[in-house]
Amino acid sequence: MNPFEMVAVTLPDPFRILWRESLGSTNDEIKILAEQGCPEGLILIAEEQTAGRGRRGAAWLSPKGENLIFSVLLRPKFSRTLWYRYSLATGLAVAKALESYVPLAQIKWPNDVWISDKKISGILIESGNNYVIIGIGLNVNSKNFPEPLNATSLHLETGISVDRAEVFQRIIQQLAHNLEQIERGFENTMINIRERFALQGSQVSYLVSDQIHYGKVYGLGHQGALLIERNGKIESIYQADEIRVISKNL
Ligand code: BTN
Repeated sequence: MNPFEMVAVTLPDPFRILWRESLGSTNDEIKILAEQGCPEGLILIAEEQTAGRGRRGAAWLSPKGENLIFSVLLRPKFSRTLWYRYSLATGLAVAKALESYVPLAQIKWPNDVWISDKKISGILIESGNNYVIIGIGLNVNSKNFPEPLNATSLHLETGISVDRAEVFQRIIQQLAHNLEQIERGFENTMINIRERFALQGSQVSYLVSDQIHYGKVYGLGHQGALLIERNGKIESIYQADEIRVISKNL
């Protein structure tokens, strides 16, 4: 039995694990199962992806067996208009799980997780008619990242090799808690996210429909929108890509 299958028995309902040594992309494979009617709670975890994907079609590279690569299948009970909550709730779950190892993990809206100004985890959320797939990549034991990636891992941050199954267990426990919480409301989740918000006060550039914009981050709205100060006005941004920090916390 591999360490993830041992952790499987400790996971809260309805989570269960399907472990694979190698596959294309956990998001792609779990999507096939979702379309075939697989019930929610399945977690597909792989040692290696040959076609791992990030946001905006970028590749997600992770050397075999070093890190965490998995996707979670959910079948939301609440309205599609609230599905954006998954993104923030997942980033928060990863950040909180990491805080068992490091003092503070920050959330770079909407759902990258950063430690010491470097990316440690990326989240790719995709959906179909009646399901949501949460794909999580987390750098656990990698020691090198190709240039120009501004990335880190738990190993680099702590100086020790970290038990991947233990981190995974902590993430799922946090995720289960957050998923319950967002069904009731979003206030508590947002309080926790604001405490870890990496962009507060920073001057940033970001893309909306492939157009570049610049502004200063004013904060986060009640529903998780990014609030940007631009030309003396506060704008709520619900979807943006390639958010780059030009200068921090002015
Ligand atoms: C990003 O930062 O751009 C998101 C990266 C998401 C990577 C994860 S790894 C597990 C899952 N399967 C994929 O192909 N992508 C996500």
